[in-house]
Amino acid sequence: MSTQVKVVEVTERSQMQQAWMIRRLVFIDEQGVPAEIELDADDAIAFHALALDGTVPVGCGRLVVRDGLAKIGRMAVLRERRGQGIGRSILTFLMDRARQQGFARAVLHAQLSAEGFYLKNGFLPEGEIFEEAGIPHRRMSCQL
Ligand SMILES: CC(C)(COP(=O)(O)OP(=O)(O)OC[C@H]1O[C@@H](n2cnc3c(N)ncnc32)[C@H](O)[C@@H]1OP(=O)(O)O)[C@@H](O)C(=O)NCCC(=O)NCCS
Repeated sequence: MSTQVKVVEVTERSQMQQAWMIRRLVFIDEQGVPAEIELDADDAIAFHALALDGTVPVGCGRLVVRDGLAKIGRMAVLRERRGQGIGRSILTFLMDRARQQGFARAVLHAQLSAEGFYLKNGFLPEGEIFEEAGIPHRRMSCQL
């Protein structure tokens, strides 16, 4: 990963807007996910991470705790910045946060096209493929 890239907790509204901008570019514009599905109520309760190259936002992700589960989601890196270790840094940041909150395990719904990314980072697939927002997914989990 480029040395200037760091991952921070979103603490300000302006940072949340930067994360939403990345998600809009990746999920809505690039992948065609409907805006009303992409922006859901979980954003209000989630812990959000933002990857910054200097002051420029390049990636994001979130951690939602519900029903005793730590669920990672909305992992997105700008297309032109992929393959540089930024996604791994965001994922590690969120896994560390879940661990700090006392969780021994994290779960997520992986797009099949991203399964290899999560496999490389310790997640294992569970169960059948299902569709979410018109995209095939599989549940994965990881011991923290
Ligand atoms: C998935 C995503 C977040 C990965 O971010 P990234 O910054 O490109 O990933 P990294 O550079 O940190 O990759 C870490 C490792 O995973 C591998 N990897 C990355 N994306 C992969 C993919 N889609 N399939 C298989 N392996 C992948 C990398 O080659 C790297 O391997 P290495 O350790 O052997 O070098 C990014 O590709 C993305 O935003 N995709 C579009 C949105 C998306 O699909 N989000 C996930 C929804 S579940």
